[in-house]
Amino acid sequence: MSKRIGVVTGGGDCPGLNAVIRAVAKTSANRGWDCIGILGGYEGLLEPRQTVLLDHQTLSGLLPRGGTILGAASRGKFSAKVGHGQTRMLPKELLEGVKAGMDALGLFALVAIGGDGSLSIAQQLFEYGIPVVGVPKTIDNDLEGTLFTFGFDSAVACATDALDRLHTTAESHNRVMVLEVMGRYAGWIALYAGVAGGADVILIPEIPFSYESICEKIHEREGLGKKFTIVIIAEGAREKDGGFVTSGAQTETGEARLGGIGGVVSAEIEKCTGKESRVCVLGHLQRGGSPTTFDRALCSMFGATAVELVAAGDFGNMVAFTGPQVGAMKISDAIGKLKAVRPDGNLVRTARALGICFGD
Ligand code: F6P
Repeated sequence: MSKRIGVVTGGGDCPGLNAVIRAVAKTSANRGWDCIGILGGYEGLLEPRQTVLLDHQTLSGLLPRGGTILGAASRGKFSAKVGHGQTRMLPKELLEGVKAGMDALGLFALVAIGGDGSLSIAQQLFEYGIPVVGVPKTIDNDLEGTLFTFGFDSAVACATDALDRLHTTAESHNRVMVLEVMGRYAGWIALYAGVAGGADVILIPEIPFSYESICEKIHEREGLGKKFTIVIIAEGAREKDGGFVTSGAQTETGEARLGGIGGVVSAEIEKCTGKESRVCVLGHLQRGGSPTTFDRALCSMFGATAVELVAAGDFGNMVAFTGPQVGAMKISDAIGKLKAVRPDGNLVRTARALGICFGD
């Protein structure tokens, strides 16, 4: 029988997941290994096991396809997050169940694709003696050690396209348009899309804002004859001394579900400036659809490099884009830390140089 590896995706979906799965499976096949996809996250390794053989037929058309053919699972027995910055330790029965599943399926290694939560599960599996290699995934780009996670560029492209569209309607109606984007506690999506899409105001969690500053910018633009203003706001942005705005409920894993700050800011802008303002919440459009060309290339490099790590026996590592290369780093060095935007970083300085206001 050929050697076999497994590939599992954890957490929410993200553009490029299928492209990574494809790269892992193709690279494995070229080494003469079989590649088995685990369905529904890590739980697919437990009885009754749910898997699919990733042969050439199954891989057809996967490169540009959004979502994940393996199914996303951010809840259930393997949810690793119990709140911001906290990780749940998996009980021994689950670790043992994964080990038994791998043995039963004849897998000698597992490639785990995920964000902070799923990679912290991968780390626990590794510490339990299971040979795991990680691939960092999240549109939020908030994972330490890698310049970019896959999915981020696609989310930024979606948000930039939304800004282009909002520009034309804002200009026609002389309105303020506020675009709320995802990103959890990091402002990467808002920052990159804000610069790429020519926003006038960028609000991110790393730089708390004041309404005076935002409204001053709007008045300044009016003085220049610009009757409209484009604001992009990260869902985790907050007022100076203010808290995060959540949609009320918590997720099943105990994490706050962020969202709603765009509407709050839009209403406040109307009050302060007397100008008409509208909010657009981009939501899950950012997570859907086909990955960008950059993400497709990154996903291919990530998948192929992950298999190289497996071949070299470099378990407990994850692939990381350190620019211009994809290399490896310990999973334990990447998890449990938030890679936040640096307020003195290059892109923030560039934005300021262009006259973009951060509300501070
Ligand atoms: O982590 C990715 C992400 O899309 C965040 O940007 C967002 O806060 C969250 O997931 C949304 O999660 P859900 O799909 O569970 O609502």
